[in-house]
Amino acid sequence: MKQLPIDVFSTWATNGKDEGMEKNHSLAVSEMLAFATQNLEDYSCIDAGCGNGWVVRQLAQQHRCQHAIGVDGSAPMIEKAKRLHPMGTYFCGNLMEWQPQEPVDLVHSMEVFYYMENPKALVEKVFQTWLKPNGRLIIGIDFYQENTVSHTWPEDCGISIMQLFSQKQWQSFFEQAGFREVSSWRVGETADWAGTLVLTGIK
Ligand SMILES: C[S@@+](CC[C@H](N)C(=O)[O-])C[C@H]1O[C@@H](n2cnc3c(N)ncnc32)[C@H](O)[C@@H]1O
Repeated sequence: MKQLPIDVFSTWATNGKDEGMEKNHSLAVSEMLAFATQNLEDYSCIDAGCGNGWVVRQLAQQHRCQHAIGVDGSAPMIEKAKRLHPMGTYFCGNLMEWQPQEPVDLVHSMEVFYYMENPKALVEKVFQTWLKPNGRLIIGIDFYQENTVSHTWPEDCGISIMQLFSQKQWQSFFEQAGFREVSSWRVGETADWAGTLVLTGIK
């Protein structure tokens, strides 16, 4: 019997499996953050689906990052993030409903958007209400059409909502939402792994 994504990740937060995500995602995330922040002076950032908060903790160390906010739908993930980083800003909320108090310069998200019933609607919502003008959305995903080894993950992990789209389809979600300078590339490709698909665009 499959479970909802947030319920599965709540179990991961309590059994320690969340810690492997920092290890497995850090290569792509460091490339994404370097790309997204290269021309920014002071900036504010939301990590959408922040898990245990490891990216927010990293951003908090960057002197150019004035405010880093983490949001995740899993209460155990957010409790862990707050425990590890008591001065950090974390919210527990469903990304499809949560709203920031103020729009930000950068929205970052690693391995999260395909867990939505309607990922395209989340791309639109970020564009319309989370980002300042000229703000950037950058996401990384490992579960996508061209990465064929990922196709068994819904069964392997017992997760009920995992939306499979191609690189072209993801890119069109950004374009249709109104983003400009949309681009996508892959990080960490090997012979049997198509890499983390990175997508980005500017409002
Ligand atoms: C694969 S984990 C990635 C976590 C983190 N970005 C990282 O790289 O370690 C996916 C995260 O998305 C969160 N998530 C899934 N669906 C969500 C939703 N609808 N609203 C908020 N968070 C959600 C899960 O709770 C989980 O922490």
